[in-house]
Amino acid sequence: MGELPRPLVRPDVAAMAPYVPVEPPEVWAARLGLPEARLIKLDANENPYGPSPRAREALTRLANGHIYPDPTQRALRQALANWLGVDMERILVGHGSDELIDLILRLVLRAGDVVLDCPPTFGMYRFCAAVCGGRVRAIPRRPDFSLDVPALEAAARDERVRTVFITSPNNPDGSVTPPEAIDRLLRLPILVVVDEAYIEFSGLPSLMSRRPWAENLIVLRTFSKWAGLAGLRVGYGLFPPEFIEHLWKIKPPYNVNVAGAAAALASLEDEAFLQANVARLVAERERLQTELARFPFLHPYPSRANFVLCRVSSLSARHVWEALRRRGVLVRYFDEPGLQDCIRISSGTPAQVDALLEALRQIAEEEHGQAG
Ligand SMILES: Cc1ncc(COP(=O)(O)O)c(C=O)c1O
Repeated sequence: MGELPRPLVRPDVAAMAPYVPVEPPEVWAARLGLPEARLIKLDANENPYGPSPRAREALTRLANGHIYPDPTQRALRQALANWLGVDMERILVGHGSDELIDLILRLVLRAGDVVLDCPPTFGMYRFCAAVCGGRVRAIPRRPDFSLDVPALEAAARDERVRTVFITSPNNPDGSVTPPEAIDRLLRLPILVVVDEAYIEFSGLPSLMSRRPWAENLIVLRTFSKWAGLAGLRVGYGLFPPEFIEHLWKIKPPYNVNVAGAAAALASLEDEAFLQANVARLVAERERLQTELARFPFLHPYPSRANFVLCRVSSLSARHVWEALRRRGVLVRYFDEPGLQDCIRISSGTPAQVDALLEALRQIAEEEHGQAG
């Protein structure tokens, strides 16, 4: 008899639950037996208008797909620096902001260190923290989704706490964190990462324009939402100089591919076009809010992002989610603390929102018929 084999996988990872991402439309089309073109995809806060024409053109002209991308991302970082009015030395671009979340935590966490998470919120912070061997301490948001700042302040007294992630506007409800709350958190002896993936839909200034910069502040943004480049994976962050120096050491050298970089550069040159799409999505978000509130079983929360969270009463949220899906309308269903009985609906084109509302009317009639 030989010795027991050594474990192939870290035991904590072996015991970990996987991240559950949204499935691509072709998978849902096959599952539902519908043509893909009939799907109304409002489940992942994507931008239905897609990339700007200049970005599309840059992709068709791409001549350097056979050459490794610039590991220091000079052209895109310089363009971002000009656009934001900041020093390019403080910018780093990631393969989506997801990659930056992972890199930050890899740099910050030693085994057993603690990350403060403010659920309900985006799941990648707790997921990446777990992958890095960190521990997550949840400081739940209040029922209106505002941060519990005193609880965060109390939790940060624990010396093992390294960082806190704040999403503003928050996913999945769309509420924003007021600057005074951020100021209070920045006084704590921990790193404060503010994720502004949806800031362009809020009508509020980005914290990237904050002066003076705080030495423990990181702000993340992305091209996935406002610029319609989710499939190309380009996010970026503004970092304190002492931090970014070390982030460069651990960044995979060619993390941003040539297609993503070219499309992001072209997007910055086509801002007016993209902002017009942002305005359309904001208008549809407002319409969604008004129209959803007319259904007695739906209770939309106010949102400053490109989605609306709805609490569902009298019917089950799962039932509404499934009944929409049968009609080809994909939304996000949650069944977790703070989000029981909730669905999240991304803002879409006027035609997509019309289709969603029509499907909801059918579901309401069906229920009425059954009840009567
Ligand atoms: C709050 C938040 N941050 C980051 C991301 C991921 O952005 P990216 O596509 O740049 O990785 C998302 C995507 O849904 C998000 O909701």
